[in-house]
Amino acid sequence: MTVVDESGHVTALGAHYLDPLGAEEIRQAAAIVRAQHELADSAVFVTITLAEPSKEAIAEGDIEREAAIVTFDRAEGTVLEFLVSLDAERVRDSRRVDGVQPPFLVAEWEPFVEAVKADPRYREALARRGLTDLDLISIDPIPFGSWNEDASGRRLCRSTSFVRPRTPGGNRHARHVEGLVCVVDLQTMEVESVEDHGVVPLAPDVGEYEAASVGALRTDVRPLAIDQPEGASFEVAGWEVAWQKWRFRVGFNEREGLVLHDLRYEDGGRERSILQRASYTELAVTYADTSPGHWFMSFFDFGELQPGLLANSLSLGCDCLGLIHYFDVVLSNADGEPVELPNAVCLHEEDYGLLWKHADLDEQRAEVRRSRRLVISWIGTFGNYEYGFYWYFYQDGTIASEVKLTGILQTAVLQAGEQPISGVLVAPQVNGMSHQHVFNVRLDFDIDGPQNTVEEVWAEPRPSGPENPYGTAFVTRTRPLTRESEAKRRIDPLCARQWQIVNNGVTNVLGQPVAYRLVPGENVAPMVHPDSPYGRRAGFVEHHLHVTPYEPDERYAAGEYPYQHPGGAGLPEWTSADRPIANTDTVVWYTFGHHHVPRAEDWPVMPVAAIGFTLKPVGFFDRNPALDVPPPDPKHGRSCHEA
Ligand code: NI
Repeated sequence: MTVVDESGHVTALGAHYLDPLGAEEIRQAAAIVRAQHELADSAVFVTITLAEPSKEAIAEGDIEREAAIVTFDRAEGTVLEFLVSLDAERVRDSRRVDGVQPPFLVAEWEPFVEAVKADPRYREALARRGLTDLDLISIDPIPFGSWNEDASGRRLCRSTSFVRPRTPGGNRHARHVEGLVCVVDLQTMEVESVEDHGVVPLAPDVGEYEAASVGALRTDVRPLAIDQPEGASFEVAGWEVAWQKWRFRVGFNEREGLVLHDLRYEDGGRERSILQRASYTELAVTYADTSPGHWFMSFFDFGELQPGLLANSLSLGCDCLGLIHYFDVVLSNADGEPVELPNAVCLHEEDYGLLWKHADLDEQRAEVRRSRRLVISWIGTFGNYEYGFYWYFYQDGTIASEVKLTGILQTAVLQAGEQPISGVLVAPQVNGMSHQHVFNVRLDFDIDGPQNTVEEVWAEPRPSGPENPYGTAFVTRTRPLTRESEAKRRIDPLCARQWQIVNNGVTNVLGQPVAYRLVPGENVAPMVHPDSPYGRRAGFVEHHLHVTPYEPDERYAAGEYPYQHPGGAGLPEWTSADRPIANTDTVVWYTFGHHHVPRAEDWPVMPVAAIGFTLKPVGFFDRNPALDVPPPDPKHGRSCHEA
């Protein structure tokens, strides 16, 4: 039962309409589908997730608690989608989706590995390499992709193999078994083919990184304690977070991981809307190596896997420091049963150095404020890599997001003396293959309401002459992006190109339309050819910016079902309509790439590489909104006001 009070807040009686489904709701949704629809014995559940209510339904207050369900018949290869009303306990809608594949299911992992390990051809190929202990062999699935091969409608997956050292806890991804690739039919779990491209000896380095294996540890690291004697400054009620002037709701699903809803900032007694919804929608990774064991290594880590189900339980480490609120997440498995991921999302505060300062040297006084940010994050382990996804909220109205990449490099093994072509030697005979990680974020802005316009902003020097007599003059240019075709843009840091999301119907005290600006961070052009098989599937990577009018079904940059999809889906398809985008409910899609040419220092485990972007208020407030942050407490040291 869904009960929401007049302010849209959760009541004691039930879930808020944006709360993720609970364990009982997942069971109930699966039971309703089973009871009202003839599901074959060979059908498995791909997803049971909250069907977020439409904006119209929310506006009208006519909100049903609904589940979106995808099933996959492993015998027939058919995908069915269901919309289930939990309130009415019935299937509202169902449809068969032809010609698509669900992501590689977590439930397929074990049978896939067992099928490969059981194949005599695979065992013989291992034996040719002197590898006879199957317990030490570790196998990762590589989604089959769509490479102009004839899959004949079958659901296929390649394997890549590694050897684990005999010592317990050894690095599972350090020693690649070069040149050995299997293709598995995921419906029958039969090994279609075993390719052996020739024996390359194992690389000598076992790549240990655990504390017990790396030798002497440094001894000069003294405790650094985060002390919050009066507790954290945030409040959490169910899935709603309040921190100083920020308010938002937390969601989590198997396809996007963390979702932020209904992000607002309290300003002068009003809660002002900024983002209706924000999430990561895709992660395209392309490797540059063309050798027989690696050419197919280009992925869609969000669309081809189930990233939410690969979330770390953060209680296993010290991923966050200080007073923490963990959100436990419930997703679903192939049987339609809830899967609990305790501590999947971490919420905490961090000191962030300087917020603002000025010293008055005449009077020997200084005013300084320390910055603090609220951090909400989760970490997924997608095979060899870890990705930490972070959202930051600052006291001056700034929002930022960052991905922290770490884990183990995907490597190829070389013959002794051989040099890599599209990679770097990171350990003896180990080729750290060059690659790019391209992230897409979907930002459904609501800058003081849904009617927003996206503008491009850039700088131009004024021409030399009477208007620029000293040669230093430059101006800021702004133009609205009025159609989808105009909004397919790339970054240009050389002219300070940025994009701002403007509400032309609301002005600040200076008469300026209120806006937030998307400030790109590290970014790069894609190296993949757009007309290549992978380039066609990852069409969204061609542009760093897309803007679309809001459509609830337009959710993921590379489309709904990227697994083995031949291409064209997602942003390229939707934006080909060239719809008007000015002064409408706009969705901004920002794409940013991390260009990763590995280094020796990335071995055997990579220090974090961080990449992200910032959303800055520009005329959203009347002046610096962080003047009211209290000065630092001088009890902890000498007075902060002495210069
Ligand atoms: Ni990388």
